[in-house]
Amino acid sequence: MKSVFRNAKITFATVLRRILCGLSIVAVASCASNSEPVESKSNAENPVIENIMARRSIRQYKQQAVARDTMNLILECGINAPNGQNKQSWEVRVVDNKATLDKIKELMSEGRDMNVGSCFRNAPVMTFIARDKSYDFSAYDCGLLAENMMLSATSLGVGSICLGSPVRFIMDSPRKDDILSMLGFSEGYELCLCVGFGYPNESPAAKPRDWNKVKFID
Ligand SMILES: Cc1cc2nc3c(=O)[nH]c(=O)nc-3n(C[C@H](O)[C@H](O)[C@H](O)COP(=O)(O)O)c2cc1C
Repeated sequence: MKSVFRNAKITFATVLRRILCGLSIVAVASCASNSEPVESKSNAENPVIENIMARRSIRQYKQQAVARDTMNLILECGINAPNGQNKQSWEVRVVDNKATLDKIKELMSEGRDMNVGSCFRNAPVMTFIARDKSYDFSAYDCGLLAENMMLSATSLGVGSICLGSPVRFIMDSPRKDDILSMLGFSEGYELCLCVGFGYPNESPAAKPRDWNKVKFID
């Protein structure tokens, strides 16, 4: 793993430093009493917040491979996500081989009028995340792992897209068993989420967020 950190464009120490920088702001905020306003830092002053705000779902990719060292760093960030009881109730399969991904898309499309393979948004690397069915919080664990991967990818200049539709298409597919056997998840795990990665060929604007869904309760 050390070589991964050494070779990646950004070192794990840098990622860690950025995360710690974000945590120190949270700590400052939580030390203050409710009545004392906490001075907020602008995005430009805080690389963690800047990175969170810069992440967007990418649906147009350059067909340029993402180096395995870079993917390994992204995956390392993923498995360091908080997770219930440290059960790490996920399994991840990474497909960065075009022929293998094309085969999965072909199987998914079989017996259907449409090319459901386009639901991968043409991302050259696809991760398939499965959850441990025996753990009731495993879907959250998988979501947190996915978010850590997407945020670390953003910080490395790699675009990402979280995808639910391929899960539906695979689970509804007459070739479901063949696809799942290619992915080789352990017994007791079920496909939960896909996340695609690649170098972005678009820079979409942020979609509006609804602050009415957030309230402080006094
Ligand atoms: C659980 C989940 C499932 C998603 N499924 C899809 C999908 O199937 N296809 C797609 O294009 N985007 C999908 N997205 C991406 C969302 O559409 C996107 O995150 C949302 O519109 C907000 O845009 P942003 O990520 O650029 O901020 C999914 C996101 C999540 C979290």
